Amino acid sequence: MHKDVTPVWHILGAGAMGCLWAYYLKSAGHPTTLLLKNCAALERFLSTGNITINSATSLASLPVRAELTTQKGNIDYLLLTTKAYDVIPALSAVAHRLHPNSVVILMQNGMGIAEQVCQQFPELNFLLATTTIGAHRNAPFCITEAGLGPTYLGNFAQCMDPNLAQQVYNYLCESNLDISFEPNLNARLWQKLAISCTINPLTAILNCKNGELIKSDEGIQLIKAICDEVETIAQANKIAINQPYFQQVLNVAKQTAENYSSMWQDIQRGRQTEIQYTNGFVIQQGENLQVETPTNQWLIDIFNQLEEESSQAHTHEKNYSDYLH
Ligand code: PAF
Repeated sequence: MHKDVTPVWHILGAGAMGCLWAYYLKSAGHPTTLLLKNCAALERFLSTGNITINSATSLASLPVRAELTTQKGNIDYLLLTTKAYDVIPALSAVAHRLHPNSVVILMQNGMGIAEQVCQQFPELNFLLATTTIGAHRNAPFCITEAGLGPTYLGNFAQCMDPNLAQQVYNYLCESNLDISFEPNLNARLWQKLAISCTINPLTAILNCKNGELIKSDEGIQLIKAICDEVETIAQANKIAINQPYFQQVLNVAKQTAENYSSMWQDIQRGRQTEIQYTNGFVIQQGENLQVETPTNQWLIDIFNQLEEESSQAHTHEKNYSDYLH
């Protein structure tokens, strides 16, 4: 079945990234289905049946299929774009539809998910992806593209047959998004982790756009202190670092100066964040390696309080936002 046929994709996690990939895969002529968690979400989607993408120069809509996760029918290619904390429940919800040749691509912020997946779904063929694409959701199934950067795909602990991995990569290339197969995905994941440990929680705490963080000396010093801790842990894990994380984070803050980070958006909507998979992961790694991470610890303590306040303030909106992911 993994010969030269058009792959049929299922996308689970209809947030900004899920909708964006669904749109591009469908534009490439790949049959694409959004998997939704409940009837309310499905009804809402079916009222238009479209995914809409705004970019600086255009507004475009494309019809895709949608169905409930609980439905029957094999899933051959699954792109999982849920939040990190939803990966295991999401995979469990569709486990009855996966078969020995199914391929799953995990595309989340943060780290530590792949290990959990390996443990709970030891037979699963999966690949990891990390992206630099900026996108945010304006309304359900309607997103804004805030910068199309590269996406890197890689094999975690050689979980997947390399020929099959190559084939999946070829399919994704047909989407016309910028995608590379990365033999050393860990280096990319740690780079992204440094970005997610700094820009994301700091913009959420300070309630600002990414670019604001580097307008003050205090902001820059804080970024440096967090990055130094992430870098120490990365080095202890023998991760290749080609440019200091601090420098990389400054560059991303500059390039995405006008964006609101995904964590800022989560806090604004009272949604659970991925902090346990970003700064929480760094702190956990520090404990394992007996390396101190006081700035990340200080940040997560403030952040946890903020997350709780934001969740309480938005309790009434919970039912609405939950069904989307
Ligand atoms: O999660 C995000 O929003 C991204 O990590 C980044 C790079 C901060 C873009 O806003």
